[in-house]
Amino acid sequence: QEIFYFEKIESTNNEAKKQANLGCHEGAIVLAEMQNGGRGRISRSWFSPAGKGIWLSVVLKPPFHPYDAPKCTLLAAVAVTKAIRSITQVQCGIKWPNDILYEGKKIVGILTEMNAEMDAINHVVIGMGINVNISQEEFPLDIRETATSLSAAAHKPIPRLPLLQEILSALEKEYHKVIQYGFVEMLDEWRELSVTLGQTVDIIGVSQKSSGLAVDIDKDGALLVEIEGRIEKIIAGDVSIRP
Ligand code: BTN
Repeated sequence: QEIFYFEKIESTNNEAKKQANLGCHEGAIVLAEMQNGGRGRISRSWFSPAGKGIWLSVVLKPPFHPYDAPKCTLLAAVAVTKAIRSITQVQCGIKWPNDILYEGKKIVGILTEMNAEMDAINHVVIGMGINVNISQEEFPLDIRETATSLSAAAHKPIPRLPLLQEILSALEKEYHKVIQYGFVEMLDEWRELSVTLGQTVDIIGVSQKSSGLAVDIDKDGALLVEIEGRIEKIIAGDVSIRP
């Protein structure tokens, strides 16, 4: 097992991509106490204060078609949600495609990045930012209303090591299950842990604004939304859940 550990780094995802390009093995992980250039999706930054979270990237080399790389995000979300629930009893849930929320606030963000040829994946880096021991007042003002942490949810400090161990072992288990039995077998678990299904969602990123009822996830990991009696397939982007 290759573990790259840093007190401080720009971004564990950047380092993981570098290690993958240098030929690290599948399953290699990069961990840092703090990031000074932590990245989120759609070129957002990720607040990554020292010692207060799990800032982690995992290198996978899945035998999937590049089209199927987003499945890695869904399986990571399932694994992390299960690990958090079992170690902390915080009943967080998955917001499609890749946020983990508690009472509507974000506790985990996942950033999956891929390096692929025409029809084969070279590697996938799954980056996970888990807000562990951050008090509500410590979050920067622009995310204070929308982010939270495990300690804030559980009203007590959460030791990081047992949680990290559980996350890594859950990830390994889900990954092998998906490879052995296929992606569709994992979707029931995803459905059970989802906070999106059954909710009215606004679809962000399409030209005309639309909203509908999130009814299911399909075999490719797309969100199925019922809009005016028709089922629309949302394959990428973001949705926001109507309160
Ligand atoms: C998001 O919700 O926008 C995704 C956030 C992903 C943050 C993690 S922290 C570890 C890894 N390294 C990064 O630079 N980003 C991811």
